[in-house]
Amino acid sequence: MRPLLPEMLPAEIKRTLRSPWLHPLNDLQAVDELLERVNPMWALGRIRARVIEVRSETPDTKTFVLKPNARWAGHVAGQHCLIEMETEGVRQRRAFSLSSADSRHCSFTVRRQPGDGVTARMHARIRVGSVLTLSSARGGFVLPAQRPERLLMLGIGSGVTPLMAMLEQLHAEGYSGDIVFVHGSRTAGDAIFAARLSALAAHWPALKCLSHFSATHGHATFESIAARVPDYAQRHTLMCGPGGFMQCLIEGYAERGLSAQLQYERFGLPPRRATAPGEALQVRCGPSERLFEAGPQQSLLEAAEAGGLSPKHGCRIGICRSCQCRKKSGSVENLLSGARSDAPDELIQLCISAARSDLELDL
Ligand code: FES
Repeated sequence: MRPLLPEMLPAEIKRTLRSPWLHPLNDLQAVDELLERVNPMWALGRIRARVIEVRSETPDTKTFVLKPNARWAGHVAGQHCLIEMETEGVRQRRAFSLSSADSRHCSFTVRRQPGDGVTARMHARIRVGSVLTLSSARGGFVLPAQRPERLLMLGIGSGVTPLMAMLEQLHAEGYSGDIVFVHGSRTAGDAIFAARLSALAAHWPALKCLSHFSATHGHATFESIAARVPDYAQRHTLMCGPGGFMQCLIEGYAERGLSAQLQYERFGLPPRRATAPGEALQVRCGPSERLFEAGPQQSLLEAAEAGGLSPKHGCRIGICRSCQCRKKSGSVENLLSGARSDAPDELIQLCISAARSDLELDL
């Protein structure tokens, strides 16, 4: 049977469900939790999506294709969304790039990370028919509105996913410029979307694909990219990949005064220096007065967990804001931007903030 959408509920019922007099139904989340028991696709406030296809891309990578409910407003190629997974009562949200330009459906592609429980559980549990909760599409890693004549796309490992969506978008538009796509993976067998990319390149003169296999060529670096794409300085560059690779490219472009033409998506914190021993700072949590120690290269979320606390969190990479908390005093550094702040009584995100002095948190 085709699932009913909340939009199909009669207006009076929707109005009644939203009534402030109906406690606890005035809380949209509570309403959604009730509706979900009747039909997992029903929701007034959340985006729910049914999995309609699961594809194996490589031995450890799967693509999940979803049909979202009417709350999904579509996406622009290159954007990502947060997928919610509940494990042992803990709700976690992870950001995944949308791997196709098709905006009616959404698909995301997940590599099973060693030691990462969330991706392993996604591979094991998500099947055709499963219903997931996701955020709306977000993020500014999208093609420039004025399409550049020459593009360089650097997609290493699962970083290829947003670039694949952008390529599909350009192909659909009939882009006739010049794209060099560097596709990096450990071996040929690990290359995500290898068949899709060769099929596109076979019929589309604008696209030239270059493979980089780290098992034989070593890790991709600024120098190795510059050697294979000598006119890189004339190309608008879009990049997504592991933190170390991206940092090396960011620095290479900055040293040559080319930062403005480099556009990238970072899912995770930039590589950090090892913490020197003896540098730990004290964090005091009010009103419990609990104390924990934080190293200068450690996020406050990691430090709090190491200190036996369990702060609320989701994505752990600064996107969902679940870990937001009030800093009452002290100095912190934003690990993504490097910005430092000493202001009292400000909201910080624990997962992307590190202590730069002893701190007092409302945790
Ligand atoms: S856990 Fe998502 S922003 Fe910190």
